[in-house]
Parts: sequence; structure tokens; C-alpha cells
Amino acid sequence: MPHSTITGIGHYVPKNVVTNQDLTAVMETSDEWIRERTGIEERRYIDRTKETTTTLAVEASLLAIADAGIDKNDIDFIIFATLSPDYYFPGAGVLLQRELGIASTEIAALDIRAQCSGFIYGLSTADQFIRAGTYKKILLVGAEVHSVGLDFSTRGRNVSVIFGDGAGAVIVEATEDKDISVLATKLHSDGTYAEKLSYMYPGSHGGYFIEKYGIEGFDVDFSTNGQPYGGVFWNQDMLDKGRIYPHMEGQAVFKMAVRKFPEVIMETLQAAGLGIKDLDLLVPHQANLRINQFVAHTMGLRDDQVYNNIMRYGNTTAASIPIALSEARDEGKVKKGDLVTLAAFGAGFTWAAAVLRW
Ligand code: ACO
Repeated sequence: MPHSTITGIGHYVPKNVVTNQDLTAVMETSDEWIRERTGIEERRYIDRTKETTTTLAVEASLLAIADAGIDKNDIDFIIFATLSPDYYFPGAGVLLQRELGIASTEIAALDIRAQCSGFIYGLSTADQFIRAGTYKKILLVGAEVHSVGLDFSTRGRNVSVIFGDGAGAVIVEATEDKDISVLATKLHSDGTYAEKLSYMYPGSHGGYFIEKYGIEGFDVDFSTNGQPYGGVFWNQDMLDKGRIYPHMEGQAVFKMAVRKFPEVIMETLQAAGLGIKDLDLLVPHQANLRINQFVAHTMGLRDDQVYNNIMRYGNTTAASIPIALSEARDEGKVKKGDLVTLAAFGAGFTWAAAVLRW
């Protein structure tokens, strides 16, 4: 049975650097508040006239393809993890196929909607398809553009200071060498927390779940000025109440994240027949430096066993792990033969981990 291994990796972030100080010009916040609570110092935002989620993905993909030393036309499957696709539909996977100039219709393109856990969900999906013998050279991308959908007024500051734009990509190939491969992946979800971290308006739900579950604070008057448009619905009340922006109950997310990270890391290491003592490097999702420091402390990991770069890029959701893994590799922090664990927690809630021998 074939195993899967990462043979190429690359990342790309927009050139435009936005510091915490820059944000103080548009909302009431401070460099101190943001650094203290999140560890973030700056993030990158796209140039809206030239860049999109897919164009960032193209740049990262070309680097990963070159790194793997393959021809783009040898790719037989594209997996694109994002919560911020260019279009409501079609998905970003087909746009990436087109923009990369992959003409073959023998390949397939799949979008993954698992938010911060999207890259690991994608890696697990790639691993299953390779083990089944269906595909041999898979392009897996995590890319996000948050900057176009954030509330930059003081009302939205708890969310908007956290997120940034960027993309990371890997080539996952079939190998007979089980020692240098993805050893185990574990995926989880709990939809009872769906609205805790969500972007619900506009959408197709018409307030149904808000009423069904009695969720407070999401009320919108659907009777006024409604514009049904395709699969979504929006109106002036949503705009007035700022419901057209992401919503996050930060402390609920924090509490669950610091519980679920250690659980899923241990579970996945055990599934690979290994333990925490075998770990060389943990590359966690970059949601908040304080979450990652808490997890490292709980698990007894040294600073040099955990890779963090949220200081420079903020939280790039599905892109954060491949960007971090790519930088860690470039900095010589992931070496051949190392045992690497990837772990994520995010909206859904979803959480996941992958253990691989590099
Ligand atoms: N600047 C200044 N003040 C702010 C800001 C800001 N950017 N944001 C919120 N505040 C204020 C609030 O208005 C509030 O003021 P008040 O006490 O006068 O009402 C105060 O700071 C505390 O607000 P909280 O929202 O309760 O702040 P909290 O201490 O929870 O920190 C944070 C917020 C950093 C988001 C924290 O909850 C957290 O890290 N949660 C984890 C969630 C996370 O990391 N999400 C990332 C995305 S999800 C993912 O990828 C897993």
C-alpha cells in the first residue's frame, strides 16, 4: 500500500505590512493590547486591485511545485482549504486549476471548509486518496484573504486585529517508504459551537438557526428591505448592526482550544505508535501566541520544539500551518528524519492533528 509524503512546500504573503500601530489610525486599540493578548505585531493585507485568495494560492503553489521538482501538469488532484474563497461558488480549487494553467480535465479539484483546521483536514484527505491508490501527486493549499471582510471600526476590533492574509502550499506524493511519510491524522468536530466563531450574514439561513437555538445577539429583521440574491440574503438591518462581519466569542474559543490541542496531539501521536518524547517539532495553527504557549507549557515542550510566526502574519486560518511549516523548513528547524506534528483548532468547532516523519 502506498504512503503519502510531502515532497515540496512553499508560502506567499502579500507585500503590504500592516502594523498594530497602523490599526490605531482606524479603531480604538493599541499595540500593547494586541501584543499582550495575542502576540501579534503585524500582518499582511492584499492589494485589492491585484490580489485574491486564489492569486496568493498560485504564488505559494508555484513555489511548492518547484520545490518538489515536478511538472504542474503531473498534479492529479487539487485540494484547496479556505474560508475566504474568491466566489460564493464555484470553489477556489477550480480557479486555482485555471490560474495555474493546468489544462487536463483528468484532474479533480476539491474545496475544504474546515476553517483553521482546513489544512490538516486537507492533508488527511490527500493521505486517504494516496493510500487508496486513487491519486499520486496532490497539490494541497491553504489560502486566505481576511482583510476584505473585517469590521475595521472599534465595534469589530476584537476580531479584526487578529486576522491576516496569506497562502501556503504543499505537494503530497505517493511513496513506498513508510518511514518518511504521514504517519497518522485525526480529525474532530463539534457543531454545537457553530455560532461561537462564525460569519453568518449574508447566508441562506434566514435566521432559522438563530430562532431554533435561541441564540442571542444575532437578531436581524428579515422583513425589511430584503434582497434575496442567489443563495444568500442580505438587508439594511444586517449592515446597520454590523452582522455582515465575522463574530467571535474569544474566551469560549480560547478555553476549548487549550483543552483540545493537547488531546488531539496525544491521540494522533498514539495512533502513530509514538509519544510526546518522540516529537521534534510542533507546528500549531497560529490563532493566538498565548494559546500556543499555554499548550506548550501544558505538554512540557521546550520553546525550540514549537514553531510560531503569528507575530509577523497574524492568524491566517487555513494558511497558517503551511506558512509556518514552510518557514520552519527554510530556517532549518525541520530537518530530514524529524518527527513533526501539526495541530489545529478553529471555527465549527473543528480540531485536528497530523504526525509526519519529514
Ligand atoms: N483593542 C483594545 N481593546 C480591545 C480590543 C482591541 N483590539 N478587542 C477587545 N478589546 C476590549 C473589549 O472591548 C473589552 O473591553 P471592556 O472590558 O471595556 O468591555 C476588553 O478588551 C476585553 O475584551 P474581550 O473580548 O473579553 O478580550 P479577551 O481578553 O477575551 O481577549 C482575545 C480577546 C484576544 C480574542 C481572546 O479572547 C482570545 O485570544 N481568544 C482566543 C480566540 C482566538 O485566538 N481566536 C482566533 C481565531 S479562532 C482560531 O483561529 C482558533
